[in-house]
Amino acid sequence: CGIVGYIGKDNAKSVVINGLSRLEYRGYDSAGIAFIDSGKLKIFKRSGKLRNLEIEVNRDLSLPSVAIGHTRWATHGEPTDKNAHPHTDCTGKIAVVHNGIIENFVELKNILKEKGHVFKSDTDTEVIAHLIEEEIAQGKDLLKAVFNTSQKLKGSYAIAVIYEGEPEKIVCARKDSPLVIGIGEDENFLASDVPAFLQYTNKVIFLDDDEFAVIERDRVTVYDKSGEILNKNIKTIPWSIAQAEKAGYKHFMLKEIYEQPKGISDTISGKLSLIKGEAELPFDFNKIQIVACGTSYHAGLIGKFFIETLSKIPVSVDYASEFRYRDPLIDSNTVVVAISQSGETADTLAAVRLAKLKGAKVIAICNVIGSTLTREADYTIYTYAGPEISVASTKAFTTQLTALFLTALEIGVIKGTVTKEEEQKYIDELIKIPSKMEDFLETEKKEKRIRQLALEFYMAKDALFLGRFVNYPIALEGALKLKEISYIHAEGYPAGEMKHGPIALIDEKMPVIVIAPKDRVYEKMVSNIEEVKARKGRVIAVTNAGCGEIRRLTDRIIEIPETDELLTPFLTVVPLQLFAYYIADFLGYDVDQPRNLAKSVTVE
Ligand code: G6P
Repeated sequence: CGIVGYIGKDNAKSVVINGLSRLEYRGYDSAGIAFIDSGKLKIFKRSGKLRNLEIEVNRDLSLPSVAIGHTRWATHGEPTDKNAHPHTDCTGKIAVVHNGIIENFVELKNILKEKGHVFKSDTDTEVIAHLIEEEIAQGKDLLKAVFNTSQKLKGSYAIAVIYEGEPEKIVCARKDSPLVIGIGEDENFLASDVPAFLQYTNKVIFLDDDEFAVIERDRVTVYDKSGEILNKNIKTIPWSIAQAEKAGYKHFMLKEIYEQPKGISDTISGKLSLIKGEAELPFDFNKIQIVACGTSYHAGLIGKFFIETLSKIPVSVDYASEFRYRDPLIDSNTVVVAISQSGETADTLAAVRLAKLKGAKVIAICNVIGSTLTREADYTIYTYAGPEISVASTKAFTTQLTALFLTALEIGVIKGTVTKEEEQKYIDELIKIPSKMEDFLETEKKEKRIRQLALEFYMAKDALFLGRFVNYPIALEGALKLKEISYIHAEGYPAGEMKHGPIALIDEKMPVIVIAPKDRVYEKMVSNIEEVKARKGRVIAVTNAGCGEIRRLTDRIIEIPETDELLTPFLTVVPLQLFAYYIADFLGYDVDQPRNLAKSVTVE
């Protein structure tokens, strides 16, 4: 979910709706807005896309100076109008938007019902409005009311509240869900993420857990949990709003695929400027544990190959959500590498907290400056992908690979498994990746080879992606991309495992996408393609093997540039991203906002 708030000189309704449109990637089941017009609280909410709400709100001609809004990814209660935020109390004077989950809401709701409160929705959030109502009825001001209410809440929340009785302010609070305040001139903002207000200001204050803020037109006051005023740093975010717009591309996803060469270059420069001269990872360790979710997890699987090959240190990779519940064997000799584009994924944060409890040091690989992950980690390596808006991750992934590769090299140098000469050779090869990728993308623009393959296969019901070695995780990623945006069932498999199950699925209708660059397992991949052909499967091969054997087996070939075998994932993933993109687009789906998904999953 995403929340937005605004107070200031502009029309608060449009600023908030605009902000919500930039946060729609966080959830888009329903949306709502509350504002104060001539002393009265007004609320509009609609299920479905933000557009439905916007049409409704545009009919209202008021020009409020304070508003809060919400775009929802349903957790408790279906995505209906009544369950959309903001939620109100019995008096209808208090409005609350909330991102997170209130775990003890049933208990609180029962107590409130006994006191005579009537509930209008099935959500956990509504209890917050009623609890604040109770406090205000006892004579507390809004800040104190939010403060006391938060003491009763268990779970995670970023909340923003407005109240008819104190119309010149927004009160907000945070615990385990992101909340950032934007500082303007004669106007101030709050949001779950910076792009919501980036067109107005890039000066921000990140709230930490158990902090509260009162946001007024001309000032922002932040309090800690004991009510003391805090002197928070104002940070400047180096992103521009142009980066968060489509720039002529039909979808953000396509734009972001094309931005990958730049993201990789920027990430190389960012990391190399840090490690110029001496390697600088600050701690000693003999084991690495990677934790991440979704596409970032796939980057982690490739990171294991990078680190183990280059530094000979054992690496385990876990889904963050699994790591937490399996009593992991880590201690102060373990470094946990947490990979997250957003730095706000709840499962990844929980894994990091557990790792720290067990004495491990945490390195974050993250794309968002100041995000929760970067503040909790002992050390952060930034990726410089720029804002990633499309729910399906592309450029974050290849910049994560860049950061992982450079980190693996750095550890290799520290541990003495990579010589300075070898390090230079690898860096020279990595530096060439962006221009190779650019050539590939430009050729695709002209020749539209992948687009044609997508046209041939968009009616498929299932698809199988096969890879080995460092491209096995790319098979997983290719399948994830296809299923998440085109809703075609897809599986990624290590090609050698095909004979133990998936081969049973292959028939003349099944597209089998084989990732087979010229590497140590190339010959094995060729045998796997033979096996698929023998069952009449339709093979698409991603390769850099020139006119070799593969051409005899299939004419559906996507040729990628040559590189070192360890670096091939940077180039093999791009055609798979484009393949998924074109199929979803042919099918007419909402590529940037696929159903049921959200970009930043801030609930466990
Ligand atoms: C969601 C997104 C994915 C993303 C994953 C992890 O599921 O839809 O695209 O890979 O979260 O996100 P993170 O921000 O932690 O990398």
